Amino acid sequence: MIICICEGVTDRDVRDAARRGVVKLSALTRSCGAGGDCGQCRPDLARMLREHRSTTRTPPTS
Ligand code: FES
Repeated sequence: MIICICEGVTDRDVRDAARRGVVKLSALTRSCGAGGDCGQCRPDLARMLREHRSTTRTPPTS
C-alpha cells in the first residue's frame, strides 16, 4: 500500500528502511524521499517508525 503518494513510497519501503536502522522521520526522508513533499503522510510515517521500534525493542539483559 502506498503511504507517501508524492514519492510513491509503500509501507513495505518504510518497514525495510526501519529494518535497515532508520529510526527518525528525517532519516527516512533522506533515504527514500517519503514525507519530503506535501507532508500529509508524515504522521503515518512517524507512527510506522514508532511501531517498528516498539516491536523490535531488545529486552534488557541481566
Ligand atoms: S504524501 Fe508524502 S510527502 Fe506528500
